[in-house]
Amino acid sequence: MDLVLQLARMPLKGESLLGSRYSYVAGGKGANQAVAAGRAGAEVTFVGRVGSDTHGQKLQAGLEEAGIDTRYLRHDPEAPSGLAVIPVEEDGENRIIVYPGANMEIEKSDLDTPFRESFDAVMLNFEIPESIIRETCRRASEAEIPVVIDAGPPREVDMSDLPGIEILSPNKAEAAHLLGEEPEALEGEKALSQAAKKLSEKNGAPKIVIKLGSSGAFVFEAAFPDRAAVMPAFSVETIDGTAAGDAFTSAMAVRYLETGDLAEAVEFGAAAGAIAATKLGAQPSLAERSEIEAFLATFL
Ligand SMILES: Nc1ncnc2c1ncn2[C@@H]1O[C@H](COP(=O)(O)OP(=O)(O)OP(=O)(O)O)[C@@H](O)[C@H]1O
Ligand SMILES: [Mg+2]
Repeated sequence: MDLVLQLARMPLKGESLLGSRYSYVAGGKGANQAVAAGRAGAEVTFVGRVGSDTHGQKLQAGLEEAGIDTRYLRHDPEAPSGLAVIPVEEDGENRIIVYPGANMEIEKSDLDTPFRESFDAVMLNFEIPESIIRETCRRASEAEIPVVIDAGPPREVDMSDLPGIEILSPNKAEAAHLLGEEPEALEGEKALSQAAKKLSEKNGAPKIVIKLGSSGAFVFEAAFPDRAAVMPAFSVETIDGTAAGDAFTSAMAVRYLETGDLAEAVEFGAAAGAIAATKLGAQPSLAERSEIEAFLATFL
């Protein structure tokens, strides 16, 4: 749950200030990505945890309204629902404080779901325990279904022994974290290419897509390393980049499952990302498939 609080400026140490407005907005990378994938055309089942609190109830209801199967969403008996406190200053600048709560209580038994029988692919992100990231990959790999990872938020996850990853998609900061490098080391196509190659070698992922915001995405396929290149973003009037990354990774994953063509999938994802960047907020800015298709038709 995101608590978005508007105020003129951040308080200084020891200072109290009045805010002008606040609202609770459904968030969380996993939930945003689930909603994005659903709108992009997939049938989505959500596996995860919220708290046994009113936020948890609201988050579940929101997912269900978006048509997502929540039968594997558990309500943790003790930990509260994950919370992000987002003070937004007048100039639109924000800072985010994340309290992971129930997200970090997910257990291996939560993954007792019919992978092979029910799912064509698994998407996951790094807002959950590392042991669960590992176990999810292991089970998906056993069931021979591909894993698509959105590598946010930036975290030093040990990337060896993560079987079954088909597409790994970090942004630049996340890629740097995974490689133990400074983000500045990833400037330019040559550095991006080397980073993608290293990431692919670390975990065996055949496809690496590094998100670069309005500059597009760097696309690397281990089978054709010489063809690696930046695919540009669509040029739009940016209002708010929140959830553009979630929109992108999910739409890319959905299209990739349909076509097996990474370039086409990245283009589809870029359209969803661009649309999200033109709208305020997270989940409200995630596009329906018809909107993505209409957007692409006007550009191509
Ligand atoms: N301002 C923008 N204009 C056009 N396209 C954009 C813009 N921002 C993002 N996109 C598209 O969405 C994709 C993913 O966005 P971005 O690189 O910001 O992801 P991210 O860093 O993971 O963001 P997030 O903080 O939402 O997780 C980009 O590769 C691009 O195609
Ligand atoms: Mg992201």
